[in-house]
Amino acid sequence: MKLTTILSGLVAFSLASLASAEGQTASIYIQTVSQSPSAPVPLAEIQYDLAAASEAEIISYEAPELPEDAKLVRIGVYNPTSKQWESSTSVASADNFSKGYSPMVMLSVDQKGTVVSAALRGIGIDAGQTRDFGPQAMVLATQPGKQPDLNKPVVLSPEGKTVVPEEKTFLQKYWWLIGIVVLMSMTGGGGDGK
Ligand SMILES: *[C@@H]1O[C@H](CO)[C@@H](O)[C@H](O)[C@H]1NC(C)=O
Repeated sequence: MKLTTILSGLVAFSLASLASAEGQTASIYIQTVSQSPSAPVPLAEIQYDLAAASEAEIISYEAPELPEDAKLVRIGVYNPTSKQWESSTSVASADNFSKGYSPMVMLSVDQKGTVVSAALRGIGIDAGQTRDFGPQAMVLATQPGKQPDLNKPVVLSPEGKTVVPEEKTFLQKYWWLIGIVVLMSMTGGGGDGK
């Protein structure tokens, strides 16, 4: 196998792993709880990144049109193709959507970023508030249990305080990838095809 073939495979692989670290979306659906339930309808599309769970963002939201007599709603991640709930659902009072409340969707995700359960609460809006009243999203990631740091060197500063080593920057982590791209462009990329 030619070196450039191996290298381009390596670059493609690395770029794919970079892309997958970018973010995930969850489709949250809502269904009225009743004796003769209608199909769940889309409520919100939420984009989140496990590395920055606090920056979850609602990328689309459809205010539900609930029947007058609806008391309870059920929400969760739903797949309209397989007609299956893909996370645990939770039930909330339909009053959470009444006037004066702004919906907050909370997702619990596992360590791979898969939504385990979804919940909804109406957050009371204070008329005097100036900030955004729109729907909000919150992602709660399951943290792995704290492991004891065995054999980990303790770095002490001259004053004797523990120094936390800095996170590597993007460039420090991926310098070799940039090097390969430069090398490939110098050797003519895909080669001469022989
Ligand atoms: C939202 O739903 C929960 C669960 O049913 C309920 O306890 C809570 O009172 C509701 N909040 C509002 C504002 O209706």
